[in-house]
Amino acid sequence: MAVFRKALLLVFAFITSMIIHCDADQDCQIPEGTPSVWLGDEDDVTYCEADSSQCSNFGLVFVCEDPSGGSLEPCINGTKVLCSSPDVIPLADPTPSSELSVVIYNIWELRYLYYQNGQRERTCRILHELLRLRQDIDVIVFNEAFMGGCFSKFNSTVEMSTLTIRDILVQHGFIYHSKTVGEERELPKFENGGVFIASRWPIVAEDETIYTDAVKTTADALSAKGAKYARVLKSVDGSNRHYNIFGTHLQASKGVNADRVRVNQATEMHDLVVNLTLSSHEPVIYAGDLNANYYDKEPRSNTANILEALHAVVPLIIGELNYTTDGLLNDARDGDSASYKDYVIYHDDYLHPIAASQEILRPRASEFFEVCMEAISPFPTYPDSNRCRRSQNITDLADHFAVIGVYKFDNKMITTESSGLETTNPDTLEPSESDETTESGVSPSTMTTESGATSQTRLLCMTTFFFSILSAIVLKEYLC
Ligand SMILES: *[C@@H]1O[C@H](CO)[C@@H](O)[C@H](O)[C@H]1NC(C)=O
Ligand SMILES: *[C@@H]1O[C@H](CO)[C@@H](O)[C@H](O)[C@H]1NC(C)=O
Ligand SMILES: *[C@@H]1O[C@H](CO)[C@@H](O)[C@H](O)[C@H]1NC(C)=O
Ligand SMILES: *[C@@H]1O[C@H](CO)[C@@H](O)[C@H](O)[C@H]1NC(C)=O
Ligand SMILES: *[C@@H]1O[C@H](CO)[C@@H](O)[C@H](O)[C@H]1NC(C)=O
Repeated sequence: MAVFRKALLLVFAFITSMIIHCDADQDCQIPEGTPSVWLGDEDDVTYCEADSSQCSNFGLVFVCEDPSGGSLEPCINGTKVLCSSPDVIPLADPTPSSELSVVIYNIWELRYLYYQNGQRERTCRILHELLRLRQDIDVIVFNEAFMGGCFSKFNSTVEMSTLTIRDILVQHGFIYHSKTVGEERELPKFENGGVFIASRWPIVAEDETIYTDAVKTTADALSAKGAKYARVLKSVDGSNRHYNIFGTHLQASKGVNADRVRVNQATEMHDLVVNLTLSSHEPVIYAGDLNANYYDKEPRSNTANILEALHAVVPLIIGELNYTTDGLLNDARDGDSASYKDYVIYHDDYLHPIAASQEILRPRASEFFEVCMEAISPFPTYPDSNRCRRSQNITDLADHFAVIGVYKFDNKMITTESSGLETTNPDTLEPSESDETTESGVSPSTMTTESGATSQTRLLCMTTFFFSILSAIVLKEYLC
């Protein structure tokens, strides 16, 4: 009997503690899968000077206020606020596996130490505004994502709550990411290369090369600029297709020397393509800020030389906008110069698309927001800070616009999961093509060899698991 009473007491204590716990949590609850960040956590930046209006400075949603919120030390005075990423913008239903949309976006996220340009205010908003314009994106190649976007860790000695572009990408279904090029760099490369690739579809292989050439007197010499490769496997309704995506950001700056470096870098990117010995029956797509104006493409111009080194074909440019950098239109950019520098182009020696286009997108906030554009500080600086020397109201989210390349390929090469065989036109295939299904992870044979006993155990396990979850949810609903 004593045991029974003890057990009863224990259950009672458990229920009581759950009720108390629920109450304390209630205010700060955010939906499962919604990334969030505590502001006011960075001791050197805005030590507990947060308030509920701050989340909206970054296009985020205010959740709650709590001086002891987050995992770091509680506030001495002032408070912290929890901000969450806004509601998901749902992606469109997938296009067929023979089609791929690739976005290049140079997001101007330089390290605070060198530059202040509203990195956080802009880059926390970027994915939402991009997806507001287009929901049919398969792959995004980022340029100048040096820190990782939004509230990324920017200094190993500064403790902070983080919310990165990769977190926001995951929230929206872009759950596959490459590393940032040059992440594992060696001195004198102080900075990574800023390029990474995000995908709605599995990245089944990745590789990179760090360029050996850079203009010595520019910041690019200290950055591990290079090319990042991602092999993407798009699977829709049982048909699979591999895409070879190469992202880069070539040497900035003008002059003969820079022109030469850009061509050398393009040659090194092309060497990476060649070294991977890809099948010529697969597409190779390059996406990047080539720092070469497409409108200067006359023979033997730097643009022509770069495109030649890449063996690249530039698809038709469609849409309303003509320039990817545009000082007149872009309110985050100074000056009045305009050019076309950001490309989603394809390699002439590999599978050609049957249709392809490039279109400039202008992701943009619906209302002006204020950012600090000039400050000398290794830390993020906001317009209200006394370190900020010049602030500006902007709507554009980077100094470049984004470009979407929409590619359609003949569906001859598609394989189906059920048969594992090429569906049509086997005479054009070479033996190397049969690897189409091997990387998909589900080969039909592993499914049929599973014994009856194992599947029964699995069913029992799953049923038990399901009921445990269900009862937990019911209990929580009842108690909270
Ligand atoms: C917190 O305390 C510091 C120093 O004691 C003071 O300068 C600051 O204004 C206080 N902040 C708030 C929000 O009260
Ligand atoms: C390509 O392979 C050659 C020979 O192995 C090597 O020397 C070169 O560094 C590689 N280049 C790239 C860009 O991977
Ligand atoms: C882009 O170029 C076209 C054709 O020259 C022109 O009609 C259009 O006004 C330009 N658009 C912008 C935004 O400059
Ligand atoms: C990191 O922060 C420390 C102070 O906490 C500062 O001295 C250092 O310069 C910062 N480093 C960079 C690369 O910003
Ligand atoms: C930005 O806009 C706000 C609200 O209109 C205004 O108070 C502020 O002075 C503006 N800042 C700059 C730098 O123009």
